[in-house]
Amino acid sequence: TNAPLIDPFQRAITYLRVSVTDRCDFRCVYCMSENMTFLPKKELLTLEELDRMCSTFVGLGVRKLRITGGEPLVRRDIMTFFNSMSRHLDSGALDEMTLTTNGSQLHRFADDLYAAGVRRVNISLDTINETKFAEITRWGRLPQVLKGIDAAQKAGLRVKINAVALKGFNEDELFDLTEWCAARDMDLTWIEVMPMGDLGNEDRVDQYWSLNDLRARLAERYTLTDLAERSGGPARYVRLEETGQKIGFITPLTHNFCESCNRVRLTCTGQLYMCLGQEDMADLRAPLRMSEGNQPLEEAIRNAIAAKPKGHDFDYSRQKPDGQMPRHMSHTGG
Ligand code: GTP
Ligand code: 5AD
Ligand code: SF4
Repeated sequence: TNAPLIDPFQRAITYLRVSVTDRCDFRCVYCMSENMTFLPKKELLTLEELDRMCSTFVGLGVRKLRITGGEPLVRRDIMTFFNSMSRHLDSGALDEMTLTTNGSQLHRFADDLYAAGVRRVNISLDTINETKFAEITRWGRLPQVLKGIDAAQKAGLRVKINAVALKGFNEDELFDLTEWCAARDMDLTWIEVMPMGDLGNEDRVDQYWSLNDLRARLAERYTLTDLAERSGGPARYVRLEETGQKIGFITPLTHNFCESCNRVRLTCTGQLYMCLGQEDMADLRAPLRMSEGNQPLEEAIRNAIAAKPKGHDFDYSRQKPDGQMPRHMSHTGG
């Protein structure tokens, strides 16, 4: 049947996040460990299989597709996938196809992405200080990302910057980052750091910086107007009257937004995670490979959605045993 995907809490699933590779050319400390082991390439879904997966979701009512990783632009021949998926934009089945990227390869891909129908990109950038950038990414080079941002804007892509709020790391750049983005006509979204991955890393707990505090500090300098509009993702937005730009807040810790969740996540091996902060997942690779027809796959997807959890239990207090997630963020691309 063509019934839309509705979960047990009456949430319609219209947003699919797809990790096309677990690899990345950076190692952001809150996302990966220093010595990550990556999946053997033969474990990955092929680009054709990824296309079939995503197209099946589109057939089941998904309207927004976000390509993630690891770093999506390090997957070999990834433009083949974007070019092929663009047919769903042309047909009107998809409202948006976009990606979240670290920007390192954007100078190579910006024009092609635009040609494939991508109209905006989210770029992860926590600092505009070259030394600090190298530190947080473990070896990334800021100038290369800046080149990517320029290329994206020249290609006509709207750029939004994602910054993870880190106490003692980019606290002192709150206004610099704001003004730097404003000068380039870019919106900026702040994200509360989530307790995922290497949990032995106590720094992360110490680095948690609540967006309540960040917002209060912004309000000391700027006039903030709450906006009702959403982008289909978890962020809430304000407009800064002085700069005109939008500032987003993604607050899994201080303001849970799970009740309006509209998304699920596909990994590069074909597992569907129903929630970023839960281990619940369903294998979709076996049903995909079982048959040329999509019947088994559609059934597996419906069964998975029928078991989507209510929300995450992220918590820094360490009181709750399920407040932290051993899975690395790079596994599902956020
Ligand atoms: P827009 O389409 O621009 O709204 O993007 P988005 O916020 O949906 O996607 P993006 O990849 O930029 O995600 C930004 C951050 O939000 C990442 O750190 C994600 O991990 C986080 N995020 C996205 N969805 C969820 C969610 O359902 N739960 C939690 N806890 N975090 C999420
Ligand atoms: N907490 C919050 N955000 C994270 N990201 C990666 N790891 C974490 C984490 N532990 C962000 C990246 C990127 C997005 C996909 O997720 O910076 O912007
Ligand atoms: Fe790579 Fe993005 Fe993870 Fe950083 S946050 S290591 S850029 S996947």
